[in-house]
Amino acid sequence: MANGKIRKAVFPVAGLGTRFLPATKAVPKEMMTVVDKPVIQYVVDEASEAGIEHFVFVTGRGKQIIEDYFDIQYELEATLRARNKTAELTILETLLPKAGSTSFTRQQEPLGLGHAVWCARDIVGNEPFALLLPDMIMKSEKGCMKGMVDLHAICGGNVVAVEECAPELAHRYGIVARGERVGEEGFRITGMVEKPAPGTQPSNFFINGRYILQPEIFKILETQERGAGNEIQLTDAMLKLMESQDFTAYHYKGMTFDTGAKDGFIMANVAFALDRPDIRSLIEKDLKALVDTL
Ligand code: G1P
Repeated sequence: MANGKIRKAVFPVAGLGTRFLPATKAVPKEMMTVVDKPVIQYVVDEASEAGIEHFVFVTGRGKQIIEDYFDIQYELEATLRARNKTAELTILETLLPKAGSTSFTRQQEPLGLGHAVWCARDIVGNEPFALLLPDMIMKSEKGCMKGMVDLHAICGGNVVAVEECAPELAHRYGIVARGERVGEEGFRITGMVEKPAPGTQPSNFFINGRYILQPEIFKILETQERGAGNEIQLTDAMLKLMESQDFTAYHYKGMTFDTGAKDGFIMANVAFALDRPDIRSLIEKDLKALVDTL
């Protein structure tokens, strides 16, 4: 089992986004805008804050725009320069990943999250890596992945971020079983189950879409049978890896928005807009009035 610095992060972005049709007919769900940035930018920013140096995107058909987004747009930049739009230029420059720090590979068939992760095996190689599901965007002073990297530096092994949910929502997620405490923010994971039947969950701690995994997961995923929803499930592969390696939960206490769901997407927009002083002053009063009126 390899430990040490977490340099690479995998972003599975091949999903069809059916919950957002018709918007996602032509625009990948990861490119939908929360205030003024695409969803994927928030997740990449979270990874950068945690010290990630290489960003691996597992894409699918119709997702080329994501690759373009992480590239230089010469014509646009020349026009901005000609118009002295320095603030806008700075934003573009700041967000541009370093040359050579992105990789794109394709998941050719939608066989599940476990399969998407497996598609990144050659690019990740034999080192522990971060995995961030882009539907979930987080808001907290210290990013979720940064907290996980800090915990991993102490406990090594595999780290999975969890949050508490209402018991009646547990069937929507991967749920972990709780063991002894690890430091201030963690606990040992003693079991896990993907989308448990209502009432059968081992706890109310759900996996929130952030992982630090050891490369041995790829070997397991290679032969992983289909699980919940007839898909190759990452949770099932992690459960197998637990037979030989430690899994620690990082109990994340910030805000999480599931932008893959309509309510989560709208709430993310409201929350990130209210957190921007320039925008808050413009919408705060109107928002309150709107809630009272409609
Ligand atoms: C995936 C994981 C699940 C996790 C969830 C978080 O499920 O399989 O364990 O709780 O992401 O969003 P999905 O949302 O793809 O059904």
